[in-house]
Amino acid sequence: MDDLALSVRLARPEDAADLARIYIDSWQDTYAGVISHSLLGAMSLKNHTARWQNTIKGPGTVLVAEDSHFGPVGLTSLGAARDAGLGFEGEVYTLYVDPAFLGRGTGRALLTSAFDSFKDRKLRSCLIWAHARNNACFFYEAMGGKRIATRTTRLMGELTSETGFGWRQLATRKQKRTLPQ
Ligand SMILES: CC(C)(COP(=O)(O)OP(=O)(O)OC[C@H]1O[C@@H](n2cnc3c(N)ncnc32)[C@H](O)[C@@H]1OP(=O)(O)O)[C@@H](O)C(=O)NCCC(=O)NCCS
Repeated sequence: MDDLALSVRLARPEDAADLARIYIDSWQDTYAGVISHSLLGAMSLKNHTARWQNTIKGPGTVLVAEDSHFGPVGLTSLGAARDAGLGFEGEVYTLYVDPAFLGRGTGRALLTSAFDSFKDRKLRSCLIWAHARNNACFFYEAMGGKRIATRTTRLMGELTSETGFGWRQLATRKQKRTLPQ
């Protein structure tokens, strides 16, 4: 398989439909067997496009990973940690790669850019919650995250266990690089 020619940039309002498509495809691929088929099948491109339009407006940050040929192939949203009690400053709220492009470095590119974005804002640590049985847990460990907490939460209304991954000290930036708009 050819390498992807990836770049990561800030999302723009016109990316919302692409982000919604990636998000829905990824949920249907990842949570089949965890969330009911009917709920996953009912995810609407129109509704999720509107939700991503709002998310892109802020206050958090949305980044898009784009291949020079295929266009957007992944996304992440991030901002201040929502659970201050755990002692982390930044949080990656979502991270999704198009199921057609898994295992080709997009997740790594997005997470590295998310960490850079935190460092630019003087947020020195990062927390991410993942479904406890999600393969993403192995990805977060491969990226240096440590299992620091568990919780029970609702995913589309269904009770699920989540594992929190933490990066207590994000490595200092080697070189200043500003994300393209
Ligand atoms: C988790 C996810 C973001 C990883 O993205 P990706 O583009 O497939 O991962 P990459 O190719 O960048 O992999 C980076 C590293 O993680 C490792 N890795 C990725 N997925 C892995 C898995 N399922 N099991 C073990 N290791 C994994 C890779 O081997 C690689 O390590 P290496 O560079 O040492 O070889 C992607 O699989 C995804 O979107 N999954 C579905 C959605 C999801 O669960 N998101 C997280 C919600 S909390």
